[in-house]
Amino acid sequence: MSPLTLEELHQNARQALDDMAAASSKEALEQIRVRFLGRKGLITQALRSLGSLPAEVRPQFGQEANRLKKLLEVHLEEAQDRLKKAALAAEAASLDVTLPGRRLDQGRLHPITRITREICDIFIRMGFQIAEGPEIETDYYNFEALNIPKDHPARDMQDTFYISDNVVLRTHTSPIQVRVMEQQQPPVRVIAPGKTFRRDSDLTHTPMFHQVEGLLVDQGVSFADLKGVLTLFVQEMFGSDVSLRFRPSFFPFTEPSAEVDIQCVICGGSGCRVCSQTGWLEILGSGMVDPAVFGFVNYDPEVYTGFAFGMGIERIAMLKYGINDLRLFFENDLRFLRQF
Ligand code: PHE
Repeated sequence: MSPLTLEELHQNARQALDDMAAASSKEALEQIRVRFLGRKGLITQALRSLGSLPAEVRPQFGQEANRLKKLLEVHLEEAQDRLKKAALAAEAASLDVTLPGRRLDQGRLHPITRITREICDIFIRMGFQIAEGPEIETDYYNFEALNIPKDHPARDMQDTFYISDNVVLRTHTSPIQVRVMEQQQPPVRVIAPGKTFRRDSDLTHTPMFHQVEGLLVDQGVSFADLKGVLTLFVQEMFGSDVSLRFRPSFFPFTEPSAEVDIQCVICGGSGCRVCSQTGWLEILGSGMVDPAVFGFVNYDPEVYTGFAFGMGIERIAMLKYGINDLRLFFENDLRFLRQF
């Protein structure tokens, strides 16, 4: 390539400035940069060709080429700026600031967790302490030490998940009673929530469900204390205007035993489908700790008496929230869970 004349150099520069002013995209601008200022660009070439110029024009040509190179660089930057601002403005114009923001998904407590905590809190306020036990239990704690002998129907293969002859998935939270009493002397005041398992699955039963166990042992504890504590619980849980009744029942580990019914929360006691027209709903089992159980944990039944109770958490949650299908608790349908 023969060296440019000064005239041609100016022409190139003018062309470059015009092109930059007219450029309407980043890409077009980049092409202009490459064409004039790139490694093989016209201005760059002109500077490289300095050596082949006659000595008398060389200084002036060199100065001029350098001046134009800087000039083009400044204009290039301005043009880039201009395009960037235009792009931002276009974006802002197409932005609808009235659109709703993006919602962050926030986790919340499962209704069973909420009710469990609510139940425990009520008893904690009465001075009870939380206790826990294993979900995989031995026959001894789940049955034997609770005065449920080998031939008792509660051990039926129909009801219990057996892991081996001597190991089961606990069928209730009552084994925690025995474990607590083994560990400490009276006074005992514990509340024990947890998962329980039974071989049962239909509309109103799931193979896994939750219970809360309560146990109070001391000197001079009577059935009146049991009634007082459970009455206070029901009033805290369902409201002070809800009545309850104690109905005689049987559990191998309590004597006497009672089931507690509350006035139907759906119909208020007048009778409906939920309460099978009785006006009452069963919410828990309870009773005075059977002296035979004390025998297993070496408490002297002549000195100590106590009461125990156990309730199904799903059932309490259904009554409290007016939920009519047990399966909703386990399907993890967000439309259901988001309501709590
Ligand atoms: N464990 C009993 C059940 O699962 C409930 C219960 C607990 C009854 C404590 C009396 C005392 O049905």
